[in-house]
Amino acid sequence: MIGEQAKKVAAHVDSARQWQLLMDVATYGARQDGGVDRPALSDHDVAARNHLVDWARARGLAVYQDDAANLFIRLEGRNPDLPPLLMGSHLDSQPTGGKFDGAYGVIAACEVLAAMQDAGIHPERPVEAVSWTNEEGSRFLPGATGSSAFAGSRDLADMRARQTVDGCHVGEEIDKVIAATRASRRPLAGAGAFAHLEAHIEQGPILEREKTRIGIVEGIQGVMRLRITIDGEAAHAGTTPHALRKDAVVAMAKVITALDPLTREAEDVLRLTFGRIEVQPNVPNTVPESAILTIDLRHPSAAEIERVYALIEEAAVRHAAPCSARVERISKVDPVSFPEHVLAAIQASAAALGEPARRMVSGAGHDSLHLARICPTGMVFVPCERGISHNPLEAASLDDLATGTRVLAATAMTILDSGKV
Ligand code: HGY
Ligand code: MN
Ligand code: MN
Repeated sequence: MIGEQAKKVAAHVDSARQWQLLMDVATYGARQDGGVDRPALSDHDVAARNHLVDWARARGLAVYQDDAANLFIRLEGRNPDLPPLLMGSHLDSQPTGGKFDGAYGVIAACEVLAAMQDAGIHPERPVEAVSWTNEEGSRFLPGATGSSAFAGSRDLADMRARQTVDGCHVGEEIDKVIAATRASRRPLAGAGAFAHLEAHIEQGPILEREKTRIGIVEGIQGVMRLRITIDGEAAHAGTTPHALRKDAVVAMAKVITALDPLTREAEDVLRLTFGRIEVQPNVPNTVPESAILTIDLRHPSAAEIERVYALIEEAAVRHAAPCSARVERISKVDPVSFPEHVLAAIQASAAALGEPARRMVSGAGHDSLHLARICPTGMVFVPCERGISHNPLEAASLDDLATGTRVLAATAMTILDSGKV
């Protein structure tokens, strides 16, 4: 069951207002093909952040930024000292991203704050909409920089010391964004976290296929990023006989061919993606001297991830010959399950709003993966067209997004009412 205030806030969710803010934010980094390219900590990211800062200030909401450049839009509570209820996601996108991955969750959280204000709700506990820094990890690894630093699962100083793919220093980029964003400062995790909720498009085909508008996310599968470096020998493309070659790209092709069958298992659960290949010297008339392959490895079981990692290590060395191969772990996040009382609050909210809902595990990673380690966390999924995401064709309907936000709003009020940590 959910309370009358939860229903009242859900009723004040304004679908057109939410859609307009989504479309406004989508202009920052807009691509010609309708998608979005808004790299973390880029000028487009700053412009999108400041658009939300202005929106928030116009509604009398306070805005903070912490040492990881996480952005917090705050509806003050009657008791400001209580740790806030957080609702967040991310504004950064993939290079060939869509309008909704991440941005929907940040803007849905903003819409819930607006609906609370419009409904005349003044909660005892502060409520904050959050934009977590660099969830995607496209511009620099590891991803989920802001949420993992906030949760303490990764060290911010270590992440600040890294380089972006375009040759910048991450720490300097963070400092630039903090300086350029019109928000007050607050230390990392300064206000704590009572609970965390995240609305997100499913990025898969299940909800659309089942004509269900709400996904109750039970948990998120584990993810490991690893790098295989293959060292061969640069040589002349015209004069070097095959027998004398140590061609790093041919070696990499053999390694990928050897690993690919792992992803052809009957149950089709393991996810192995060879998403980034860097070749040196990367010119047509020199036999490749080295090749670096970044692999994204996912599975609901942490043990299975370790088992597959061991297979990759063995296959890389064996199939790279006569080149040498080195396998390194870049990052690993174990799978998480969300607490039953949060799932039940989402379920009850969907039911009270007359929305069929189904429980599911997230194949995609999210900031909630890290927040779940420090506070009760839950996610609400809505459908996206043909399950397409990380693609400019990513699309979702105004109504489905509004429905997701109504469930988010009712869930937030239910969690606040329960007072349960
Ligand atoms: O990679 C992921 O799962 C997320 O979309 N960043
Ligand atoms: Mn996302
Ligand atoms: Mn994404």
